[in-house]
Amino acid sequence: MELIHKLLLESLQGETDAERRYLQFSIQSDAEGYPGIATLFTALSHGETVHAANHRKALEKNNYSGPFPKPAKPKNGPNTLANLQQAILAEKEEFTSMYPSFVKQISKKHGNSFVAKIALLSLKWAAESEKNHHLLLVAAEKRLRAQQDFDEGRIYLCAVCGNLHYSPAAPTELCPVCGHDVSFYSPVDLLL
Ligand SMILES: [Fe+2]
Ligand SMILES: [Fe+2]
Repeated sequence: MELIHKLLLESLQGETDAERRYLQFSIQSDAEGYPGIATLFTALSHGETVHAANHRKALEKNNYSGPFPKPAKPKNGPNTLANLQQAILAEKEEFTSMYPSFVKQISKKHGNSFVAKIALLSLKWAAESEKNHHLLLVAAEKRLRAQQDFDEGRIYLCAVCGNLHYSPAAPTELCPVCGHDVSFYSPVDLLL
């Protein structure tokens, strides 16, 4: 069980840090005059909140009763472009390296046991959502380089897995990450 606790705690630390960091980025983008990018950072922060909550639940289901990590003090870049670039790299690292490695280690040691399944589901949902987070960040960076805000659509958050859906209209299909229906999606607004 120690391995599952260790890897879930490490994942939880990352999500908790990102949750706080994206809120800071959101404030900075809003101040720079990019409310659309600021809303994206708010939505990303909410997505990381969902990942953190799922990891916490998975720890509890795995009989973890110790303390949960506290968020690190976020380090903002000099501007929105630098923050987007930092976030792009961080998200990519999570879904290409960190989460796949954690899934592999837990699967190897615990196979398909019930407790492993809970941990694996939380890790896989986070990894799959980070892929979409990454795509949105890349799209926002492209817009910013063309001196445009990220404001052509609205951002919807899946409350179950933290996935984000960006489009002019509300989602009409099951969440592609967790398979829950559209009633779990809500639009994210800039509330700062
Ligand atoms: Fe993310
Ligand atoms: Fe979902």
